[in-house]
Amino acid sequence: MRKIAIMTSKGGTGKTTTVINLAHCLALSGKRVLVIDCDSQANVSMAFDVKPQKGLAELITTGDVDIVKVRPNLFIVDSGGKRLVESELVLARQEDRETRLQRVLNRLVGCDFVICDCPPTINLININALNFCDQVIIPVSMDFFACEGARKTLSLIDEIRERIGHSVTVLGLLATFFDRRTRISQRTYDQLVEQYGQLVLATRIRINTQLKEAQEKYQTIFEFAPYSHGALDYFLLAKEVANGSNRIPIEVKD
Ligand SMILES: Nc1ncnc2c1ncn2[C@@H]1O[C@H](COP(=O)(O)OP(=O)(O)OP(=O)(O)O)[C@@H](O)[C@H]1O
Ligand SMILES: [Mg+2]
Repeated sequence: MRKIAIMTSKGGTGKTTTVINLAHCLALSGKRVLVIDCDSQANVSMAFDVKPQKGLAELITTGDVDIVKVRPNLFIVDSGGKRLVESELVLARQEDRETRLQRVLNRLVGCDFVICDCPPTINLININALNFCDQVIIPVSMDFFACEGARKTLSLIDEIRERIGHSVTVLGLLATFFDRRTRISQRTYDQLVEQYGQLVLATRIRINTQLKEAQEKYQTIFEFAPYSHGALDYFLLAKEVANGSNRIPIEVKD
């Protein structure tokens, strides 16, 4: 079971969009995927138009949770919205405040992937997500503030490794909102590669309005516009996450 956090301390960089579409693409490929919404904005349950009663808020306080099947092979845990903020306050007074999620989920079985959608802050829930997950994808929306957000997230990951001794690693920095028509996108991408080298994923998620429109219809991009740039980019990301490469094999037939 691979546990991946989608995290950066900058808001609006495409974290939730990445979680939803990456998770659905992996589910379509036959993997069993659980998405855990760690953000009190509760955008994951909104995206699938479900309202579970018990979410992450209840999971970290009572150990009880509703796991909802939203598509074949795809399951979600809602954050609990405002209740998650209240649970974080309760959690802050506990001794295992930084590792509770890992403790309550240590009996989780039956999934190939667990993907956590994280809030754009450095809070206790995010520290719990980092302690639970093995790998992190950091979306960078091709601008200066997003690069700063990535830098802060990388140093938080280092801190978790050193202070708590949990061996979470960076799966990669993911270029999002990539726009070929602007020089800033290419320049920011080149700077990221210069600074972080192999840590930058080969897949780039281009700006694609259909990704936004899909959410309005409670669909993923693979349902709303399967032949769009957005669908291709998220397919390539799923391939890169699953196999370490996003190259589509070219089959030569006689
Ligand atoms: N590649 C893209 N092209 C066009 N629009 C996009 C793209 N990715 C995301 N969006 C849109 O941008 C907005 C922000 O995306 P999203 O909610 O995924 O970001 P986020 O990082 O999860 O935000 P937050 O930090 O608030 O949780 C949404 O309206 C989403 O539909
Ligand atoms: Mg989000």
